[in-house]
Amino acid sequence: MSIAFEPKRKIFTLKTDHSMYQMMIGPENYLLHTYYGRRCGDAFDYLHLERDCGFSPNPYALAAGRGFSLDTMPQEYSGSNGGDFRIPSVLPETDEGIRGADLRYVKHESRRGKYRLDGLPAAFGGEEETETLSITLADAATGLEAELLYGVFEHADVITRAVRFRNAGKSPVVLRKAASACLDLPFGDWDLLHFHGRHAMERQPEREPVTAGIKVLSSERGYSSHQHNPFAILCERGAGEDQGECYGMMLCYSGNHQTEVELDQTGLVRVVSGIGERHFSWKLEQGASFDTPEVLMSFTDEGLGKLSRIYHRFIRHNLCCSKWTAKKRPVLLNSWEAAYLDIDEEKILHLAENAKKLGVELLVLDDGWFGERDEDNRALGDWTPSPRKLPHGLNGLIQKVNEFGLRFGLWIEPEMISENSRLYRSHPDWALKVPERQPSIGREQMVLDLSRPEIAEWMYKTVARLLRENNIEYIKWDMNRSVTDLYSPALPADRQGETAHRYMLGLYNVMDRLTTEFPNVLFEGCAGGGGRFDAGMLAYCPQIWCSDNTDAIARLQIQRGTSYGYPASAIGAHVSACPNHQTGRTAPFGTRAAVAMAGTFGYELDPAKLSEEEQEEIRKQISRFHEVEDLVREGDYYRLTEENPRFTAWQFVSEEKKKSLFTLVLTEPAGNPLPLHTRLKGLHPEQCYRLKWVEYAGCRNWTGDELPQSLSGAALMYGGLTFPRMYGDDPSVQILLEAE
Ligand code: GLA
Repeated sequence: MSIAFEPKRKIFTLKTDHSMYQMMIGPENYLLHTYYGRRCGDAFDYLHLERDCGFSPNPYALAAGRGFSLDTMPQEYSGSNGGDFRIPSVLPETDEGIRGADLRYVKHESRRGKYRLDGLPAAFGGEEETETLSITLADAATGLEAELLYGVFEHADVITRAVRFRNAGKSPVVLRKAASACLDLPFGDWDLLHFHGRHAMERQPEREPVTAGIKVLSSERGYSSHQHNPFAILCERGAGEDQGECYGMMLCYSGNHQTEVELDQTGLVRVVSGIGERHFSWKLEQGASFDTPEVLMSFTDEGLGKLSRIYHRFIRHNLCCSKWTAKKRPVLLNSWEAAYLDIDEEKILHLAENAKKLGVELLVLDDGWFGERDEDNRALGDWTPSPRKLPHGLNGLIQKVNEFGLRFGLWIEPEMISENSRLYRSHPDWALKVPERQPSIGREQMVLDLSRPEIAEWMYKTVARLLRENNIEYIKWDMNRSVTDLYSPALPADRQGETAHRYMLGLYNVMDRLTTEFPNVLFEGCAGGGGRFDAGMLAYCPQIWCSDNTDAIARLQIQRGTSYGYPASAIGAHVSACPNHQTGRTAPFGTRAAVAMAGTFGYELDPAKLSEEEQEEIRKQISRFHEVEDLVREGDYYRLTEENPRFTAWQFVSEEKKKSLFTLVLTEPAGNPLPLHTRLKGLHPEQCYRLKWVEYAGCRNWTGDELPQSLSGAALMYGGLTFPRMYGDDPSVQILLEAE
């Protein structure tokens, strides 16, 4: 059993293989957090001593002792307006004007299996691998109940958390904030590692000490955003890739989110994570309930690398529902950077024919195929093929693509509507707009009001029809603007604050139905590149286009940042033409392939524009990828270098440690360089490994014989490898190691 309750001391203990989480029912039935850390057999209720802290108030019944304050004790789920001045987890309000929550323990129960959430993506696990603990807290004044849900994945070292609110009172309660989880760490010096960025430069890691005050990482853009990923790590000051205590908080949600981190007057760090509160409120009528999204939490004392591997495995095994998660993905060629909107049947068939000759397995027809889509300012919503560009329709095109021996994939952006579209002309009220105000426009398009069930239904039917009527085996589901002008004519005034979250529920409902009905279709998420790269979307899409920036050197940083939380099997990565369309850089062809091989691998270029030599190179790259794809998709991932070094190196190791792919890209060539040396990780020390192939790109004077043919795991990990001098722009080396 991974969940235990000790009735005498009223302590709850949740255990995973390497971590332990503890809380206790304290004085006056306040639920106190007592411990989250390494697994052991002890109880930590003795740690939290009562003390009189000036100006921190005491609950009424405990006033005389003066030592117990909600403002100083670590809370399991913080209330509001009752003496804890730190970040609240919930802000309820009744019609009578009663605000805040004084949450007290009422009851608990535990059972085998994992709880489910109403309409939201969530981690799953069988009865044998998971247990659920539910602890109900209640606030007498508002009648609000908060059922804290814990899903314990013992062997995965993950604990999931969510809250189910119920209005057990007599009048409606409005939730102004409803966080998914609160984590109080009363002792220690912590760094916060988070992942911020912008379009075409997503998930840049930033590590900073947690200092007094509150830091908020959030998106109020209606999608999880390029700017702040809903994933954050707290790690001890000295933690590195291989050592140190680390806590991960990953929100399984793709809409507005916020993670607040506070260092309080006592040295306690509180992290509260959940739906972004700026555009949120939810009205609970008597008896109604509301589920928050869940947070995937993990702890390890083995450093950031281990924390990443825990999340990678968990996302692959316990979050992504698609059968594609564990399956070999087709090597695809996408038409976007090959032709942009300038496409027609002839051009696409030409692309397909050439792609097939190189070993590509699936052709993706990106933007431009539908309605009057000659420019990117029109036709979104008109999801029927342009008769001018595709005279034989999608079916005619797909048949011919299939005849070449290629599968077919299609781009769509179904959440959007262009003002210049048939759909808008017939349903101008379907776009999100505030009455009497001009809506703000992004990429000259508007957002469909998916909070309305009839519009979500239209979206489902439109995509389902495309999939039913055509042999489409892959969908790139795009979303290319932020969500503004929140107002839904279908909701009464006192429910307008629900629009943004209802939008997400509408979207998840459609994604759920489509992925269930079409299990053979591979769905790739996308939002202007990696703007919606989060655990919520990964529940439906086993892969997400990582960034619109396809420059291999820029990708090193983007993919490295992404790797802290998300597995390579989820990272959409392609080889594109040079000079690169986003940066103008010309990186060696081999380096571009080596970087794309740390993801799902594919191409985003017109093969006809390449030399014979380059085409031959593509054939070799694809056959190399086939040798390593299982390893990349399911192996353990190791970052071998810290941020901003002269070079970036990483490694995949198979579960049985029999096979490993090593990659190094030199990013700062020097006149008189220091030796280029790195140690490998994750191998078996006593195993002998053969260097099956060494593939170098852009290293002018290498012969390939510079490295020993075979070495022990110990030699590779303790001594490492030294590489000969590399010259030129962005050279790289890839090595496939195999156990002898
Ligand atoms: C977004 C995507 C691109 C491409 C374009 C098409 O920007 O990220 O890959 O599909 O839309 O308009």
